[in-house]
Amino acid sequence: MFESLQPMPPDAILGLIAEHKADPREQKVDLGVGVYMTSEGTTPVLDVVKSAEQFLVDTEDSKAYIGTAGFAAFNAAMQKMTFAGTAPDERLVTIQGPGGSGCLRVAAGLLMRARAGAPVWVGEPTWVNHVPLLGGAGLELKLHPWYDTEKHELRTDELLDAMRRIPKGDIVLLHACCHNPSGMDPEEQLWREIADVIIERELLPFIDMAYQGFATGLDQDAFIVRHLADKVPEMIVSNSCSKNFGLYRDRVGSLSVLCNSAATRDTIASQLSNIVRTIYSLPPDHGAAVVARVLDDPELYANWLVELAEMRDRLRGMRELLHEALQAEAPDHNFSHLVRATGMFSFLGITSEQVDALKKDYGVYMVGTSRINVAGVTEANVGYLASSIAAVLQ
Ligand code: LMR
Repeated sequence: MFESLQPMPPDAILGLIAEHKADPREQKVDLGVGVYMTSEGTTPVLDVVKSAEQFLVDTEDSKAYIGTAGFAAFNAAMQKMTFAGTAPDERLVTIQGPGGSGCLRVAAGLLMRARAGAPVWVGEPTWVNHVPLLGGAGLELKLHPWYDTEKHELRTDELLDAMRRIPKGDIVLLHACCHNPSGMDPEEQLWREIADVIIERELLPFIDMAYQGFATGLDQDAFIVRHLADKVPEMIVSNSCSKNFGLYRDRVGSLSVLCNSAATRDTIASQLSNIVRTIYSLPPDHGAAVVARVLDDPELYANWLVELAEMRDRLRGMRELLHEALQAEAPDHNFSHLVRATGMFSFLGITSEQVDALKKDYGVYMVGTSRINVAGVTEANVGYLASSIAAVLQ
């Protein structure tokens, strides 16, 4: 049966986890997969998650199935965190899904049912898994300009021009904040202009919000979602709780669809339920139950905001630290984009040969495009990291 199948290459991002782990060198640096790390280089469970888990251990009395849409309290809390009342409730449906990626896949299923093979426009570059994940569901991904990897800035005029030429009614995929891989988000004014194009061209916004709270704050990071929510008839938003709750392996996310009427909402809810049933049947519960508890309990919620701010501030601090160290080690090169970007990622802006050399000669791991996860920078490794980068730049 399977003789005809060929082995697949390792995943461009996830493959780095195993490679870094297998590297016996003591001095090695992991700037690969997007996972938050402390200054000790670890990814501990958040304190609020531990507290919520303890609450579940003490009070949960059943593990029986809930339903395809998941836990209602989680869905309500995520809807509030995403839209903060900016979208009409009666037109919104939110379901729990297995991580942001699982939610993207369910959304792709919905789009395929509405318009098979529909083109989805996305700025280039985008998260490398967007293309196979959505494309694997049958959607056609089309790229338009977004970020200039030479100048390290958004291609503002070109992206607006290109978006103005997208056929009416097509779908546009946007990163709400902490653009993956560049870390460079539109300023509010540019978001407003992008929204104007979306409204004028009657485009369907499909927003991937995987890092809410990692750029500036929960409300600021949801700007484009909330700005569009009362202006467009339809919109899709996929949220991930992997990063902001540190629940990576528990797979927690939500998918919200803004429908053009309350009546359509019921149809979409039933379609989503059917799509879920035909892919994974029901979402995993544990992580979503934890998030619901944190979002609904005032004390845990307040503590979560503190933990979230700590993660955000550390990422900002590590950007500054690395920038300073690189200025000292490689003064002929400009790395100022590292401090102009936000969230977890930035392009270092080196060649793939230099990326390979960093891995081979110095045990420094990053995605082949030179995307780095700034959480992997620490006070202890920044000197080694900057001198290694400077060495391959020579
Ligand atoms: C990343 O981009 O590193 C994360 O979103 C993890 C992943 O699944 O790729």
